[in-house]
Amino acid sequence: MNKILVTGGAGFIGSAFVRLQLREHPELHIVTYDKLTYSGNLDNLRDADPARHTFVRGDINDPDTLGPALEGCDAVVNFAAESHVDRSLNGAADFIATNVAGVNTVLDQARRAGVGRVLLVSTDEVYGSIEEGAFRETDAPHPRNPYAASKAAGELFGTAYGETYGLHVVTTRGSNTYGPYQYPEKVLPLFVTNALDGLPLPLYGDGMNVRDWLHVDDHCRGIDTALRHGAPGEVYNIPGGNERRNIELTRRILELTGRDETLIRPVADRVGHDRRYAIDGAKLRALGWAPRMDWDEGIALTVQWYKDNEGWWRKIKSGEFREYYRRQYGL
Ligand code: NAD
Ligand code: TYD
Repeated sequence: MNKILVTGGAGFIGSAFVRLQLREHPELHIVTYDKLTYSGNLDNLRDADPARHTFVRGDINDPDTLGPALEGCDAVVNFAAESHVDRSLNGAADFIATNVAGVNTVLDQARRAGVGRVLLVSTDEVYGSIEEGAFRETDAPHPRNPYAASKAAGELFGTAYGETYGLHVVTTRGSNTYGPYQYPEKVLPLFVTNALDGLPLPLYGDGMNVRDWLHVDDHCRGIDTALRHGAPGEVYNIPGGNERRNIELTRRILELTGRDETLIRPVADRVGHDRRYAIDGAKLRALGWAPRMDWDEGIALTVQWYKDNEGWWRKIKSGEFREYYRRQYGL
């Protein structure tokens, strides 16, 4: 591969993927294609070498911009999405526009431009909640919130383009991801940055919901493995192997930021809050992938990154975010 288009490459995971590709594949040119919604941020790509990286501002729903950007690309990796469950609970129109219709446009334009491979970045949330054990790729999706439903619908368009047009489409379902440059509406960077400022940590419900934490670099390596070695039409889970209750995660963040439990603010539960996510990663492991980041090290490094990069998150938290935070939490 010589040239890859990364949609949503100015977001959290997409920008980590761009950095990883530039680092590990010296022959590669990357085109980042991003609408720069509230969570897209060119500061996330500040280290990308301009000689090997081009940025195009555009909506994945706009074929007139996306089509030309895809010319000459060997692959497209779609990260572009509305990605926050809580926002989807306040209205799902943008989620359907980007995560369903937008994915269809990516597939259609990739087909027209003769792009050899499409990778759709999806989520473990499409399976829904599971009390015990872990979902495998053969289990039927059972999304339980509008965000997850929109991601599952987008995936189905991928399957359809494979069946109908023979397009090479691979889908990944990653678990809850953490690391540097994550927009601070998601629980981990929200709690870390609030704790650093001595602000309350709004913990939903009883704090006993379980998430499986995957370091962003391990997620990106998993996507890279599926892109290069995955079979067309297949789905690959990317688990973190680090299940934690939200209360455990919160306590760890408090320890690492030198704060105590008086900062924990129990708030009303998220409606339809999925209790536990868990996925089995054997299928991707069989292609040679394995997570490298140990949880204790990963969380410590991540908290340190937010300590060292105050400027990055303060800029975000002083903008549109403030209005969102007031609306969401009334705090
Ligand atoms: P993010 O919100 O940080 O980034 C999304 C990016 O997509 C932003 O740069 C945004 O500007 C861009 N975008 C949004 N709508 C667009 C549009 N219509 N056209 C072009 N660009 C658009 O999200 P993230 O956490 O980096 O998630 C990336 C992908 O990974 C998503 O598809 C998400 O569903 C998936 N995922 C995320 C997680 C997680 O824990 N964060 C876990 C599994 C899967
Ligand atoms: P989140 O980061 O929104 O990811 P997802 O909903 O995709 O798993 O939330 C992770 C967990 O943290 C989830 O169980 C909800 C919980 N949570 C809180 O308790 N308080 C918060 O303010 C947020 C944003 C999430």
